[in-house]
Amino acid sequence: MLGNFSYSNPTKLYFGEDSLKYLNDELPKYGKNVQLIYGGGSIKKNGIYDEVVAILKANGKNIIEDAGVMPNPTIEKVYEGVKIARENKTDLLLAVGGGSCCDYAKAVSVSVHCDDDPWQKYYIRFEEPSCEIVPVGCILTMAGTGSEMNAGSVISNHKEKLKIGHVFGDNVMPKFSILNPVFTFSLPKKQMVAGIYDIFNHICEQYFSGTDDNTSDYISEALMKSVVHSSLVAIENPEDYEARSNIMWTATWALNTLIAKGKTTDWMVHMLGQAVGAYTDATHGMTLAAVSLPYYRHIMPHGLKKFVRFAKEVWGVDTKGLSDEAAAKEGLARMEAWMKKLGVALKISELGATEDMIPGIAEATFILNGGYKVLEKNEIEQILKESL
Ligand code: NZQ
Ligand code: ZN
Repeated sequence: MLGNFSYSNPTKLYFGEDSLKYLNDELPKYGKNVQLIYGGGSIKKNGIYDEVVAILKANGKNIIEDAGVMPNPTIEKVYEGVKIARENKTDLLLAVGGGSCCDYAKAVSVSVHCDDDPWQKYYIRFEEPSCEIVPVGCILTMAGTGSEMNAGSVISNHKEKLKIGHVFGDNVMPKFSILNPVFTFSLPKKQMVAGIYDIFNHICEQYFSGTDDNTSDYISEALMKSVVHSSLVAIENPEDYEARSNIMWTATWALNTLIAKGKTTDWMVHMLGQAVGAYTDATHGMTLAAVSLPYYRHIMPHGLKKFVRFAKEVWGVDTKGLSDEAAAKEGLARMEAWMKKLGVALKISELGATEDMIPGIAEATFILNGGYKVLEKNEIEQILKESL
């Protein structure tokens, strides 16, 4: 049964090969000072930077450079961005990059006009912003996180060995996002497949919870089938527009709040993955991939019917004559085979995690209660050991 909910999504999307031109429609809505946020330089190599700067100049904007947003953005970088925004009276934070740039822009947006320390306020106390929020716009160059149409912002604190996500309210979502699948063509294969697994796992996190008949689960199955199909095309031909556009669109729908509506959700793979990320600074999607199979095999007996449905509907397992357990196992075996084809990490040791880190990673793992089994600390350690 669908639970009660309210639904709105304020982010305006522009999707397609010509979508960047719509930046011209958005810019006049904001003041002169645009803080141009980007990462380590991929947008300079592939020419996106020049295209964006030309549009900003044509619209008479004052460009404030804010480069060097690292994958898994840190709180120190957020402090720097806040300082830049205060000194330059930023009117619009324009993130050009992947989830890291979009998440970072949101963290800066809620901190510029706020006196409190953002780490303490948003990532330790999980408060909502109580100050003016600087508007954010995103030009996405990597498909995966869904950050372009959600209010999530994940920030790392290396000193405290923590990586924490805050899901803010609608008022923190990007005002607009521009999604051009061609912009993702230059991604290295490792980033492309990490993004693909991130998308798939976002859907799993919302699917593997609850036993009710829920429209969201049917939507989730369709999204999973689409991303699996397109991923196999994209690894053969990364410039296949049809596949890359489907991957980009699936990423947005996998985590723009829609498929979580009216149902419970799990999110334990992300809690485990984020804790691994806090210790290793590894690529987000890879951390998820490396803990997923041990986690799902662990909880499978507690949500057996859903795992059978997953096997049948997503992986096409013919369950006739199979016990529920055998069918569910076959579903996960096919998922594993797909992950191997993609080439995602299947062990946290591949990401730099070592046995002596396990107690710390387990300690840094937030335990949530929406999944099929509320984990004890010792089960977390066991899953992490199986992931090594
Ligand atoms: O920094 P540059 O040089 O731009 O290179 C980036 C970066 O090294 C590169 N890249 C991006 N677009 C490219 C490109 N290289 C060539 N061509 C392009 N078109 O890819 C690397 C990874 O980028 P990043 O933004 O870090 O990846 P992703 O989009 O996966 O974002 C990861 C961050 O988002 C958080 C993760 O935890 C992580 O910190 N997440 C945010 C969520 C949300 N807002 O809801 C949910 C997710 O579960 C996730 O936790
Ligand atoms: Zn994710």
